[in-house]
Amino acid sequence: MNEIDNHEIIKARYKPGCICKGIKLHKILEAVAAGCRSFEEIKSKTNIGNGSCQGRRCGAKVKEILDNLD
Ligand code: FES
Repeated sequence: MNEIDNHEIIKARYKPGCICKGIKLHKILEAVAAGCRSFEEIKSKTNIGNGSCQGRRCGAKVKEILDNLD
């Protein structure tokens, strides 16, 4: 994935990002598209990582997204 495009964001509206807080995956992708490049930046923008997993589950998902950026 070179960049996050609108099509990917739309598809991600129905996929979980943070299941403990009910945050969909598209919120993470929108944060990355807006320039966030670390878990802490994405956490601050989306509130992901503040639920019961405290980043143990969603952190891996965010890392995978960031690792796949060029
Ligand atoms: S999945 Fe909700 S805080 Fe990590």
